[in-house]
Amino acid sequence: MKVLVVGSGGREHSLCWAIAKSTKCTEVICAPGNAGIANVARCVDIGVDDLAALVALAATEKVGLVVIGPEGPLVDGLADMLQAVGIKAFGPSAKAAAIEGSKGMMKDLCAHYYIPTADYARFDEPDGAKEYIRSRGAPIVVKADGLAAGKGVILCRNENEAYAAIDHIMIEEAFGHAGAEVVVEEFMTGEEASFFAIVDGEHALPLVAAQDHKAVFDGDEGPNTGGMGAYSPAPVVDSEMSKRIMDEIILPTIQGMARDGNPYKGVLFAGLMITDTGPRLIEYNARFGDPECQAIMSRLASDLLELLLAAVDGKLDQIELKWSKDSALTVVMAANGYPGDYKKGTEIKGLEEAEKQAGVHIFHAGTKSEKGRITAVGGRVLGVTATGKTIEEAQKKAYEAVAKVDWPDGFNRTDIGWRAIDRG
Ligand code: AMP
Ligand code: GLY
Repeated sequence: MKVLVVGSGGREHSLCWAIAKSTKCTEVICAPGNAGIANVARCVDIGVDDLAALVALAATEKVGLVVIGPEGPLVDGLADMLQAVGIKAFGPSAKAAAIEGSKGMMKDLCAHYYIPTADYARFDEPDGAKEYIRSRGAPIVVKADGLAAGKGVILCRNENEAYAAIDHIMIEEAFGHAGAEVVVEEFMTGEEASFFAIVDGEHALPLVAAQDHKAVFDGDEGPNTGGMGAYSPAPVVDSEMSKRIMDEIILPTIQGMARDGNPYKGVLFAGLMITDTGPRLIEYNARFGDPECQAIMSRLASDLLELLLAAVDGKLDQIELKWSKDSALTVVMAANGYPGDYKKGTEIKGLEEAEKQAGVHIFHAGTKSEKGRITAVGGRVLGVTATGKTIEEAQKKAYEAVAKVDWPDGFNRTDIGWRAIDRG
């Protein structure tokens, strides 16, 4: 069967790479893809927001499955459009993807089904929000309701910062319509982890846990990014914690959504705070995490395509997943200046040499191939991934490979995995 993967990031590179290994797969097509994806898939230059062209491509190519990587096309209804013309799609409907697209919807669902999360209130005008902040005190968290490219969450140390955050979102309209409503919520403390479950509307199968590093600089300092590195397993999520997360968070969510006539199909990504009282939900995403996906796919020993098809067909209860016992760790290399402004078009060398070592894969994100040269065209550009018997070994191998990448215009954190390694 032909498979179409939608997206152009490191996440999609790792999905294409894993799907291409399936005995069921005859060809992987990727739209729009990138220079690295072109090594495992046929790239077609259609953007992720051109939904009509993506549906037409899937139909012309007679693909057996479309795997939708990013949240944008999910929230905009690509899965629904494909389903309407009889093409199988891995990813939730627009209505179910609102679990990521509307923080208010997600919080109301949690309240209704007793899913542990931060206490909150929703507001569609600034005065009420400020009054609530005054009554609650700081630290407190202000969030734009809609999608804001990962920037719509403001952690406020004091009340003045929180009032300013409300003005920024609601009066200055910094995130446009995404900030027409806000969620103001309790600041939670603990260790963060990313938890993924594959869901078929009724059943859910947990994947191995992973943890990412969102802050741009070593020691988890500086502004947040999409993720500067990740590793799996995440020691903070042992098998007992994994069971609690499934029982207390994931299963009540999918059962609740099914009961509400809004069944969830696809990958459900829970951003969690592991607190003294147990796991609490920070947010849901309707997609795989990037770069968590790169680490997780490096450990998957089962056939990914079979898994995704079982989810679409409602047959997840017939699947048992196998994982490598090895650990995996991904170091993101980003363009100098990211997450602020950065240069585009700088040349990257040494990739072949860096990837020679066994157990090392470089997943591309913002890269382009021009006349035999690989250039950087995005903020996060490469995900250098290694497997090893321990996180420490995977870390060592990943950084040895990073050292071989010759890209003066890029940078990376030097401490990915430190929390797991510190735990011993
Ligand atoms: P989000 O975009 O919702 O994942 O938020 C981005 C980051 O903000 C999370 O990864 C957390 O580090 C932090 N965050 C969000 N909500 C809270 C909260 N209620 N308490 C503490 N930290 C939070
Ligand atoms: N790495 C976090 C995310 O993909 O949202």
